[in-house]
Amino acid sequence: MNRRSFLKASMAGCTSMLTPAFSMAQSDDGFFELTAEKGRARLYGKHGGLSDLWLYNGRLPGPDIRVTRGQRVRVRFINKLDEPTSVHWHGIRIDNAMDGVAGLTQPAVKPGESFDYDFVVPDAGTYWYHAHTMSWNQVPRGLAGPLIVEENEPTFDPALDITMMLNDWRLDDNGVLETGSFGARHDLSHAGRLGNWLTINGASMPQIPLQQGRWHRLRLINSSASRVLDIAPSRFGARVMAMDGQSFDAPRDIAGTVRLSPAQRMDLVMRPEETGDIAFETMTGKPFTFATFKVGAATATDRPLSVPPANTLPEPDLETARILPLDMAGGAMGGMRGMMTGRTEDDLRKMMQDGLFWAFNGKAGMDETPMFTAARGETIVLESRNDTAFAHAIHLHGHHFRVLERNGEKLENPDWRDTFTTEPDETVKIAFVADNPGKWLIHCHMLGHAASGMMSWFEVG
Ligand code: C2O
Ligand code: CU
Repeated sequence: MNRRSFLKASMAGCTSMLTPAFSMAQSDDGFFELTAEKGRARLYGKHGGLSDLWLYNGRLPGPDIRVTRGQRVRVRFINKLDEPTSVHWHGIRIDNAMDGVAGLTQPAVKPGESFDYDFVVPDAGTYWYHAHTMSWNQVPRGLAGPLIVEENEPTFDPALDITMMLNDWRLDDNGVLETGSFGARHDLSHAGRLGNWLTINGASMPQIPLQQGRWHRLRLINSSASRVLDIAPSRFGARVMAMDGQSFDAPRDIAGTVRLSPAQRMDLVMRPEETGDIAFETMTGKPFTFATFKVGAATATDRPLSVPPANTLPEPDLETARILPLDMAGGAMGGMRGMMTGRTEDDLRKMMQDGLFWAFNGKAGMDETPMFTAARGETIVLESRNDTAFAHAIHLHGHHFRVLERNGEKLENPDWRDTFTTEPDETVKIAFVADNPGKWLIHCHMLGHAASGMMSWFEVG
């Protein structure tokens, strides 16, 4: 079914409320239990069929894990799937052994086995967790959930602090998850596996209650495997307060759209002045409404807006920084040519047969050799260049970085990010302090791209 017929059908009025946050069952020894298991859910409202999914604790999305900055988080992860998996805590500056990357930081958790994750969350903000074994196949089947780290002094009334996990699904004519095309070569070598339907917290076209005259915090998380969502906060009266978990000094009015690529988060603040309905849209292509804010009367008086304090992240020292390249090449529409250096046509054909379509610095996929090794505390500047015909969302594990420049122009706000978007032909310069010892992935968060070559790792001594 194409997107247009979906849109028509959707107007038939399938609406549902957001699933409320809930706390997780805790075992006697203080571990939260998180189980990956098969489950089913309706992705296309009550008119759609049931999809076979892989879920955490049987929920879509996985349980809302809410902790407080500095808290120790202990999760006993149990794998009840038929294949190995592991859990990655995206954006958390975590102890390397807890990063959840099968084959790099831990062996994958086999079916029937468990793994204890035990770590401290150093920064407040909006994060998420997801499978990190065969992610291209496991995440778009449902293995993802929000991880919210609250400030020590919560600044918003919990009823006004709303997590919105945005997800893109490829559904068939019955509104059921289409599984036959997982790993399709065309998707891998183009924009990734794009869907034709969007949900928020697993719900189709949800109605989200807001209160008139009160400040809300909306925590947007793009958990899509490949879909970039363009959000225009000013169209619904919101301001941007944080990106990728890191708050700004003050909320910003942003005209136009903000790209929210796979894995990225955006925290918004908003105080609706009137009761009534407000559309929540994605602006990619034609504006498409995929949720409605239902603004009702306030149930309490408002508190003034208090912006959460910024996290303390290590400041890059640009004077002493080591500058390294991050050249992206590959993909359809001419990008593979950029991978020719040092290769024959035969090599290239062989790579494509092996399902490798993309490269960082001329290398497709990863092996025992890291992309670079940093001394602990060293500032690294990555100068990325996108020589492909597609956008990419590049994520560094274990660190946050400042985005300094785009196409040679210094950014007015060199914000902290853990994932940056790069458009075709764009150069982007980022800087970070490599202060977290261990082996860390760097990859495109369009999960099919990562699986077909856009993935490497770096080591911090
Ligand atoms: Cu969201 Cu390699 O991670
Ligand atoms: Cu990519």
